[in-house]
This record gives sequence, C-alpha cells and structure tokens, in this order.
Amino acid sequence: MTEAAPHAVHLSDYAPYPFVIDGVELTFRLDPGRTRVISRIAFSPNPDGPGHSALQLDGERLKLIWARIDGAPVEPRITPEGLTCDVPTGSFVWEAEVEVDPAANTALEGLYMSNGMYCTQCEAQGFRRITYYPDRPDVMARFEVTIESDAPVRLSNGNPQEPDAQGRARWSDPWPKPAYLFALVAGNLTARSASFTTRSGREVALNVYVRPGDEDRCDYALDALIRSMRWDEEVYGREYDLDVFNIVAVDDFNMGAMENKGLNIFNSKYVLASPQTATDRDYEMIEGIIAHEYFHNWTGNRITCRDWFQLCLKEGLTVFRDQQFTGDMRSAPVKRIEDVLQLRARQFREDAGPLSHPVRPESYIEINNFYTATVYEKGAEVIGMLRRLVGAEAYDKALALYFDRHDGQACTIEDWLKVFEDATGRDLTQFKRWYTQSGTPHLRVLESWEDGTYSLHLQQQTPPTPGQPEKAPQVIPVAVGLLDPGGREVVPTRLLELTQAEQSFSFEGLSDRPVPSLLRGFSAPVVIERASTAQERALLLAHDTDPFNRWEAGRALAKELLVDMISNGTDPGDDYPGALGKVIEDEGLDPAFRALTLALPSEDDIAQTLKTAGITPDPMAVHEALNRLAVACARHLRAPLAALHDALAPNGPYTPDAEAAGRRSLRGAALGLLTRIDDGSRAEAQFAQADNMTEELGALTALLRAGKGHEQLAQFERKWSQDRLVMDKWFSVQVMLAAPREACEIADRLTAHPAFDWKNPNRFRAVLGGLAANHAGFHAPGGAAYALAADWLIRLDPVNPQTTARMSTMFETWRRYDADRQDMMRAALERLAAAPGVSRDTGEMVGRMLG
Ligand code: ARG
Ligand code: ZN
Repeated sequence: MTEAAPHAVHLSDYAPYPFVIDGVELTFRLDPGRTRVISRIAFSPNPDGPGHSALQLDGERLKLIWARIDGAPVEPRITPEGLTCDVPTGSFVWEAEVEVDPAANTALEGLYMSNGMYCTQCEAQGFRRITYYPDRPDVMARFEVTIESDAPVRLSNGNPQEPDAQGRARWSDPWPKPAYLFALVAGNLTARSASFTTRSGREVALNVYVRPGDEDRCDYALDALIRSMRWDEEVYGREYDLDVFNIVAVDDFNMGAMENKGLNIFNSKYVLASPQTATDRDYEMIEGIIAHEYFHNWTGNRITCRDWFQLCLKEGLTVFRDQQFTGDMRSAPVKRIEDVLQLRARQFREDAGPLSHPVRPESYIEINNFYTATVYEKGAEVIGMLRRLVGAEAYDKALALYFDRHDGQACTIEDWLKVFEDATGRDLTQFKRWYTQSGTPHLRVLESWEDGTYSLHLQQQTPPTPGQPEKAPQVIPVAVGLLDPGGREVVPTRLLELTQAEQSFSFEGLSDRPVPSLLRGFSAPVVIERASTAQERALLLAHDTDPFNRWEAGRALAKELLVDMISNGTDPGDDYPGALGKVIEDEGLDPAFRALTLALPSEDDIAQTLKTAGITPDPMAVHEALNRLAVACARHLRAPLAALHDALAPNGPYTPDAEAAGRRSLRGAALGLLTRIDDGSRAEAQFAQADNMTEELGALTALLRAGKGHEQLAQFERKWSQDRLVMDKWFSVQVMLAAPREACEIADRLTAHPAFDWKNPNRFRAVLGGLAANHAGFHAPGGAAYALAADWLIRLDPVNPQTTARMSTMFETWRRYDADRQDMMRAALERLAAAPGVSRDTGEMVGRMLG
C-alpha cells in the first residue's frame, strides 16, 4: 500500500472554491456492506473564484460506479484523495454513483454502523467518505435526501417530506449548509417526543431517538433541549428555524456530540440518564452538551467557518454560550470554578507542552487533531475577555450585528473582530493576538504602598512555544478588588487593562495597606505569580466577596502547602484543615461551593505546579503528599465531616437539579475524606442503601481510593453487567483509583475481560484513559503503564485513528519528568511513530510531541 506523504495545510494558502453549488440531491440505498450513494449536484462558476478550472472533488475510500456531466458519461482522474474532471464553462450538473462499506467502517467517520444502525459523522472531513464532493465549509448548499432502507426510522437533515412513490423516506433542508453538517440515521429506533413553540409561533417537533429499551432515559435530555431553545431566544434573540429537531443517541462515537442541521447525533453517554444509572456529573454534562449542540444552530450552522483554521469561531463562541447557559441554569460561581478547573487541567497542560498551538492555528496535517482544549476552552475564554472588555451591553449589540451581517455566510476571525470594532469603536488589533499567539501568559505582580496609595506593578511574559520563540504583549483584563486587613472590601471590582509588557495601576486614599483580590472571576486565562503569605490567602478564603477568588485562595493554600511538603518534607499542619473547616461549616455557603473547596488539587496539577517552579515532579512523592494531606484534613475535620455526611443524607426521591446535586457533592466529598481514616463501614452502608448512581458510585470510589471495596466492585459488576454506560464506569473507576503499583496490572487484566470491547471508544477510553488519568499509576516506576498504553494505541490506530491520536496526548507531558521517565515515555512515542502504516492522525500528533 502506498500512501501519499502527509502534507500540511496552511491558513495562508486559502483560496475560494471555483464553483458554487445550486443544489444537491442524494439518494442512499442502504446496505451494511454495499451502500450505494447517488448524487446529483448542480454547479455554477463562483463569481468570486479564480475563473474557469477543472472540477476537483474530495473523495476517500469510495468505489466510483459511474459519473456523468450534463447526462453524458465521463471518466474522471481518480486519486486516493479525490478526483479531477474537465467541465464545460458555465453551469453544469455532476451526477455519480458510488459504493461504500459502512459495516467495515471502524474509524467512525463518514457513514458507519453502530449496533446495527446506520449513522454518520462528517465533521470535519467525513463527508468525502460518503460521496465525491467539495468537502470544505465555505461551499454551502441546499440538500434533498432520499433514503431507501427497510429500517423503521430513516432520518436526515431539515424537514421531513412525504415518502416517494417507492416508499422511500425523503428529507429537504431549506438552509444552505456545508457538507460537514450533513447527517443520516437509519435503524430500529424509538423516540421520546415533545414540542416547542418558538416565540414567533413556529411549532417544532422534538424527538430523542434511542435504542428500544432506552426510552425511559430520555426525559432529561428533552427537558434540557427545551430549556436551551427558550434560553437562546431570551438571551441571544435566536429562534429555531425548522419544523423538527431530532437527536439520536449512538453507542459508538468518537467525540461527545455533533450539531448536524436539525439532526444532532450524540454519544449515548451524553443523552441517556436515569437516577439509577447516571451521576449528577452525567446530568450536568448532558444539559451542557445538549445546549452546546443546539446553540450551534446559530453559531456554527447559520453562520459557519470559512475554513477549518477558523474552528474557534464556532467552537469558542458556542462553548462560551453553553457555559453562560449552565451558569444561568445552575450556580454561576460554581460553574466558573468548574470551568477553570477544566481549563487548567486540559488547556494549560496542552499549552505548556509540545502540542501548544494558537486558538487559531496556522497549519495542520490532520484537522481532527485540532479539536482541542485550546480551540474550545481557551477559545471560550477569549470571548469571555472580549465581553468583559467591551461590557455586557456592547457585547449584546455586537452579537446582534454579527447575526445580522453574517447570517448564511462562512466567516473568519477577522469578520468576527470587525463586528466588535464596528459595534464598539474599539481597535482590536492587539486583542487579536489572543487568537494568533500560543502559550499561557504569566503575570508577575509587584506591589508598593506609600501615603495611602497602593500600586500594582504588573508584568506579562509568555514562555516560548513550538514555532513561536518571541511573544508580544497581549491585552489582559485584570479584575481587581481590595480588602482591608480586617477582611472588609474597600475597593470593589475594577477592571484593569494591561496592554504593555509592564504597567502600573494605583489606588489612592486608602487608610491601611490592602490585600488584593487579583484576577477576580478568573478574568483572563493566565498564571499569576505573586509572593503571598498564608495569612493573606486565609483572609481571602474567609472574606473575599468574589466567590471565584475565595475558592482560588483555598486552592492556592493547598498547592503551596503541597509543594512545601514535597520539597521540604514538612508536615501538613493544622492551618489548612482549619481554614477548610470554616468553609465547610458555613451554612450560608452553597453546598456545591463548599464541596469544591474541600476537593484537593489533582496530582497532575501538582506535578505541573512543581515543574513551573523549576522542580522535577516525582509522581510517587506527589501521590504520597496528597494522601497525607487528605488524611490530615480528614483527621482534623472528622466530626464536622461526619455531621455533614449524616445531615445531607437523601430525604426524598432523587432529583437532578443543581441544588440537590450540590448537597450530594458535599456529602460525597465528606465521605471520600472520612473513608480514608475509618474502617469503610460508612461508605459500605451508603453503597448498600443507595437508590441513585451518584451515591452508589460515590461510595464505591471512596472505598476504592482507600484500598477497599473489592466486594462492592464485584457486586456492582453483577448488578450492571447488561448496562453499557454503567459498565464504562465500572471499568474506569477501578483503574483510575488503583494504588500506583497496581494500576497497570489491573488495566491489563481488564483488557482481557469479555466485556472489553476495545473498538468502542467509550470502553477503550474507560480503561486506557482511566490508566492515564491515574497520575501515579501511569508514571509508576518501571514504565509498565507506558508500554501497555502504547501497545493498545498501536493496536487501535489502524482501526480508529481519530481516537488513537486524541488519546496519544497522555504522553504530551513527557518532558516534565526525570530522565528515566522521559526515556521510557519517549520510547513509547517512538514505538508508536514507527508502527507500520501509522495513521496520518497519530503520525502528526506523535511527531509534534517528539518535536
Ligand atoms: N462540532 C462538534 C462539537 O463540538 C465536534 C465534532 C468533532 N469531530 C471531529 N471529528 N473532530 O460539538
Ligand atoms: Zn461544538
């Protein structure tokens, strides 16, 4: 087999497509091994294109049966990537029939089968595996689809039409769209339905399609959809634009979900929920992802991306919108803390390593490798900063202009920023660096105090990243408030705009030297470097009016203590547990907030913190220090924790709302700590009594973390062996929470379990992703876990390159560790790179990681 050497695509090479499409008709004759796709595409010259050229269409793994132009047979030149065909000047009609093999499609891109049902995933470039087509987002067209199949349910985008004379299902999508938003589903499915009336009176039928037997797990997704539709009308003035909105749950899916026009396709774990099978976290994810995909209908579908370099245009904005939504539905401060935890765990980690790239990258080999935390999460932070800088009202005005000006278009970041410039009169030239410059800025803070004037001297500096040795100063919105030594706020939040490499800001007329509350609400995705005392942190933890910074103060205390324990062997002491005690016993605070404060930083976070401080992290020492601190907290707080665990016991049937979930999360955090120092009976009792998955899994994980719970693990398996989503939890928790020296062996054993269906991405991630998520287990001495993970990635790569490439990021931190671990991790990466026929996806990732 000879594959063309993978070549990079560059943003600077963008050129418009020479043709526009006047209409697309697709007919599918579905068959597992031999599906036929007949296409009829009307092309015209693009007035903004380069002039007359040959027709080039993308196409991969297609068997061309015949092709015609204006009815006359043609013989195009075919390559593994597509075809070229001479065409007349002026308009013409391309017709073709191709054959594809959905049953053999294990990559889960294009048309594939999951549990006997047909489904598609076309973003980013899967449509070219369905038929020959200009598979690029700036080519938008109206699609008419006909489906021939015995399946009882046959779906595509747009509005359903009457079946044709042969009884074939027909769909018509009135909204021009790029091919990546195409979708088709057919199979034996059952629906839960509802309806929604838009504010202008359009009646929309809502359906959640699932496998028979799962219909009692759809209510929450439907409810979240209705709330999303209402919220987008109220907050962004956006209405839905078709007669139906369909959601389909599939078990085999590479990512979370996909916003195909009128036919969203979801990983079933982000749709199906019942109190017995889904945790509070699952419910929150379902709500957020349902909202995310729905919001794409305007930010992504009605206004799409000109090319894949602009991916953050739709993803950053849509993540920002779903974060706002969740903040409105639940607690905004709690949501902000959760989002920052995620950002630091995934995006800061990415930005600190060899895979660092700008929010808008400038080149790629495989675009699927750029669906990253940087594009999504940092992309959302950039929108948040923009909103802070221009203010909420100007933001709303700019968004209204954006929808008005660009509806129906395929746009760029330049278009987006121009809208804000026109709406606000601001010059965003420097702000644009947030899109083009990679790396996490560090903000050094120096202070002075004289004659009632307090001054902050801010210095920004971004470490070099791959391909970007020099960094220019960025616009950093720094929200600051000041507290007096008694903890009273003397200066409410003020937004400082740092634009220079170094800049000073003064606050006058103060009677005492204040304690600053910096970067309130995490107003910019940066790392703050400031020498601070434990007293100051404790003051902020107790008194800051900004809830994010209250939490942050506790987090900083824990991190500094852990670094001290690890590098100097100090004891945990009583100050930190004492400060925690005040927070958890404060009945005036939201239980969810108290639970977040009680949670310790992750081992990965501490390893990164050590590295940033110039210390090579020893994963075993990090693990041991965290255990010691947890035990110290548990001992110090034993009585209040036990009281909380008792007081927060369920007092009625399970409800998934934020308030009830917050109480359960505090109860769970208390149990986790108590189980580290008791005989396990408290957790065993909770496990035995639980009537919902949050409490059941919470008890099980508390036991596993304390090295107990083997009997419960076996019971859990017997109880849930028929439930795929719950079994994913069973697979993952025992690897994730295993003792460092046992994790690899447990993972290895689980890969031999009869239910380890390694071609299912959720199951593969449960075990191998679980292993990588066990920091000390993954990095345990000897390197066995590295080798096991590499073996499995090598096995998965030919089957599913996309998931393999994504999971290879478990090695992205290899330069963090000691020489011995670096050698072993590099060896694992090199083995992956040298695997015969390594995919373009994995090849690119490994190449970048090895640098
Ligand atoms: N647009 C989808 C979402 O964020 C993600 C699709 C990712 N697909 C992929 N092949 N990378 O909602
Ligand atoms: Zn998205």
